[in-house]
Amino acid sequence: MTQRRMMEELNWEDFERLPLAQRAPYFRQSSGRPYHCVIAQQFDRESLDSLCDLSTRIRRIAKSKVGSDFLSSLMRNKRAMLYFTQPSTRTFLSFFSACQILGFSPAEVRDPSISSEMKGETKEDTIRTFSSFFDLIIMRTPAQGFAEKMAWMISRTERPVPIINAGSGKDQHPTQALLDIYTLQRSFERQGGIDGKTVLFCGDLARGRTVRSLSGLLLQYRNVKQIFAAPEALQIGEDILQQLRDAGVEYEVTHDFKKKISEADAVYMTRLQDEWDAKPGESAKGYRQEDYYFTGEDLRKLSPKGVIMHPLPRRLEISTECDDDPRAVYWRQERNGMWIRAALIATIFCRDQEITQYYMLNNR
Ligand code: NCD
Repeated sequence: MTQRRMMEELNWEDFERLPLAQRAPYFRQSSGRPYHCVIAQQFDRESLDSLCDLSTRIRRIAKSKVGSDFLSSLMRNKRAMLYFTQPSTRTFLSFFSACQILGFSPAEVRDPSISSEMKGETKEDTIRTFSSFFDLIIMRTPAQGFAEKMAWMISRTERPVPIINAGSGKDQHPTQALLDIYTLQRSFERQGGIDGKTVLFCGDLARGRTVRSLSGLLLQYRNVKQIFAAPEALQIGEDILQQLRDAGVEYEVTHDFKKKISEADAVYMTRLQDEWDAKPGESAKGYRQEDYYFTGEDLRKLSPKGVIMHPLPRRLEISTECDDDPRAVYWRQERNGMWIRAALIATIFCRDQEITQYYMLNNR
């Protein structure tokens, strides 16, 4: 059944009621490739492995001028809208660059106060308008579930276009989770990959959407233990823990971050997301920054083959003393975002095989 027909059969309320894992088929093309990318739960192990492999191919092809000319010839007739109504630096720039790598012409709306939303147009109509002019919509909004709803809505119109969620509310950030997986995979390439590793999450886990999405993707790997270190008020959501229990995955919830560093293969730091506070500064009160801070001293506790990650932006979660340590991979992680986003977009537009063929002929 085509994706459009599937969406047409369900109204939004019924769709929203489906468990996350059951929504996945609605976001796929009949070939199994993603069409929309809105929730982390839509990716299985096979699709993650393919995306990581394709990212590496694109990364290597792009090193030469002829290679980057080939890549940028692929989608020269397509346009992409980057609709970012929440602050963003690296997600925006890496999507912008990923589009350019593939030859898309990117355009942007970042400030709704200069769009027709100020004249009272609904966000739904704004998105539908984008689909009249663009072939791809990449969006970040503060509203939880909104990208998903727009994917459902646009699939039922005469001019469906893929929607990529670049961060929705406190809930999901699937492409950040993809780049985190790619970073983990590259970091542990010579140590048997991600399977069997322990990931220690630290910081504001209640509102950190990157952690919520990555925790879901890690379920696709064998025997990955997840440890959540946060003060009680900012601890990971019960829905995520339930997801781990359902999958029979080992996890631990603690407030003692420092004690757990030596157990971790990957330490994933996050900042206090106080922009969500009902009263400004309220969440900072119960939060002792020094307890959730990775210092130069802590480098000694971390395994020699371990890694320190951060979705960035950083505030005070990692001392700059760590920046030159080879285990600090957050800058590489940021750049990986560009490669895996290019791989995702190429896959959505079914250009993945062409890229692989080019790679086999020219880059091996
Ligand atoms: C994250 C986000 O927006 O959720 N940033 C990003 O996309 N790299 C993390 C954050 O803002 O703390």
